[in-house]
Amino acid sequence: MPLMNKTVAFIGAGVMCEAMIRGLLKNRLIEPDRIIAADPHEQRGADLVERYGLRFTTNNVEAAEQGDVLVLSVKPQVMNSVLSGILGHVKHGALVLSIAAGVKIKRIAKGCGNPSVVRAMPNTPGQIGEGITVWVATPEVSAEQRHWAEAVLGALGETLYVDDEKFMDMATALNGSGPSYVFLLMEAMIDAGVHMGFSRQDSQKLVHQTMLGSVRYAIESGMHPAELRNQVTSPGGTSAAALYHLEKGRIRTVISRAIWAAYERSVELGKDEDD
Ligand SMILES: NC(=O)c1ccc[n+]([C@@H]2O[C@H](COP(=O)([O-])OP(=O)(O)OC[C@H]3O[C@@H](n4cnc5c(N)ncnc54)[C@H](OP(=O)(O)O)[C@@H]3O)[C@@H](O)[C@H]2O)c1
Repeated sequence: MPLMNKTVAFIGAGVMCEAMIRGLLKNRLIEPDRIIAADPHEQRGADLVERYGLRFTTNNVEAAEQGDVLVLSVKPQVMNSVLSGILGHVKHGALVLSIAAGVKIKRIAKGCGNPSVVRAMPNTPGQIGEGITVWVATPEVSAEQRHWAEAVLGALGETLYVDDEKFMDMATALNGSGPSYVFLLMEAMIDAGVHMGFSRQDSQKLVHQTMLGSVRYAIESGMHPAELRNQVTSPGGTSAAALYHLEKGRIRTVISRAIWAAYERSVELGKDEDD
């Protein structure tokens, strides 16, 4: 119980904040009255209080003063004003955990005056506890605080710790933006099913389970994707015909280039911040 007798405070009570709260409570990692969320929207607060029994405030300072773990779950555009508003009010010994895309550790630590910072990159499946979050910590983050970070981020699904902030740009391109690539492939396959004559509903069902089953099979078998692909590709068969066209359309190069472009964009946005 790493969060026993600790208070987890959230600044920005939007989609990701609620996903973390839901996961924390579902996994019984914390009592509801040990959670405090701050957000400008009173109605949003009332809804969260009713659903989860947590505490709510419209005052960020109130949350900052109480949080042993202070989660910054606001959009990157408002980060500067949030940080300057809580400067000098972060609880002594607190861990500040930011999930804001592209906001560097240095800016967070300096902005809120707290050296113990974790920066994390979650992804949208975290909203149902099926995400994967990459995270990095400053040297000041203690072993105990790392356990707090793992518990809070674990509420969104799997976690992967990295020892250098440079991996955050790569994570942004791979797991952060990753779901958008999968959804595009999913959409294209569903449309192809409809093109052939399946109803949209049936095509969707076939594609969803094909994707889910393929991923589970890959994980459980532990086999290399090429080996799994060869298993279903008989000489002169239907899979071979389809794969020929995917390769001819340079699918590997397109995917590789696309992910590299996302990486380059993330690095570029980070440079803007350094200026
Ligand atoms: N969604 C994802 O899957 C995902 C994945 C990776 C990273 N992230 C990161 O997670 C962060 C949160 O994303 P989200 O999807 O949860 O955003 P969201 O739903 O928009 O939640 C942010 C909340 O913060 C509120 N807010 C705005 N200004 C504030 C202030 N000064 N003080 C306190 N609260 C304030 C917003 O109110 P308003 O609506 O009035 O602005 C909103 O309720 C972002 O930085 C994003 O980059 C999200």
